[in-house]
Amino acid sequence: MTMIKKILALKEERQATILAHNYQIPEVQDIADLVGDSLELSRAAARLDSEVIIFCGVDFMAETAAILSPQKKVVLPENGAWCPMAHMITPEQLRDLKALHPEAAVVCYVNSTAEIKAESDVCCTSANGVQVVNSLSEKEVIFVPDRNLAAYVARHTDKKIIPWNGYCYVHDHLTAEEVRAARAEHPNAEVLVHPECRPEVIDQADFVYSTAGMGRHALAGAAREFIIGTETGMIYRLKKENPLKEFYPLSKNAICQNMKKTDLAKVLRALQTLQSQVTVPEEIAVRARRSIERMLAVKN
Ligand code: 13P
Ligand code: SF4
Repeated sequence: MTMIKKILALKEERQATILAHNYQIPEVQDIADLVGDSLELSRAAARLDSEVIIFCGVDFMAETAAILSPQKKVVLPENGAWCPMAHMITPEQLRDLKALHPEAAVVCYVNSTAEIKAESDVCCTSANGVQVVNSLSEKEVIFVPDRNLAAYVARHTDKKIIPWNGYCYVHDHLTAEEVRAARAEHPNAEVLVHPECRPEVIDQADFVYSTAGMGRHALAGAAREFIIGTETGMIYRLKKENPLKEFYPLSKNAICQNMKKTDLAKVLRALQTLQSQVTVPEEIAVRARRSIERMLAVKN
């Protein structure tokens, strides 16, 4: 039996669902039940009734699924798949920041640890950061850990945003010069970038979207060529859904190493062993769940 057939048979037997982030390698995207951005995957984790979720992504995504569904087994096929940005702030640092700004609400990007979510009032993703911040009654908002998403949100709200100095090394490396060079090479292409990019890159773009937003835009729009300012895994999905359109990565070096660690052999092993199971201690999960559920209740 081929590896893919084994995965599909075992998935059936285990009544498992395979979720994959848009940055996963093509083979993993192809066997997933749902490929999406962080918001879509969080929503799926909340509504799914499978007993087992195989989460092909990074640590904070599997943790979010485990927090929303403590009765399910959430399995991360690759133990070392973690998001460096999510670990750029500690709970102690956030508590110190809160003490400095006692009137401020705390919004954490979903790319954060369960402990940070537990210390926050509400969570957000790159798809709904602006809506979440604007839904708050407070005039000041501590926004952690991504300084670039914080700067993007600050441009779209009247609230005072107090950012943390975290960043995604993949998006933070993209430059305005690369946008200019890509436009010169592909003058008819639209430039779509992720809000984890630096403000000067965002200034050069035509549109700013989460990865799912890029997918919707490419499907619906009249343009036939696109320069994609995010992790290169996104290009596979875009090409698959739009075979007659052209997609160029803003940088071929925009690769999240940890997103690429999951492969089919690891997915099969995860289904066989149900390892590594991701769990969150209930005293943290109960507070983190409040932040995530508050986000899921915000319309966007
Ligand atoms: P989205 O897919 O939610 O846009 O997030 C990108 C990301 O960097 C996830 O780690
Ligand atoms: Fe984290 Fe950036 Fe990788 Fe997303 S792309 S998982 S934010 S390091």
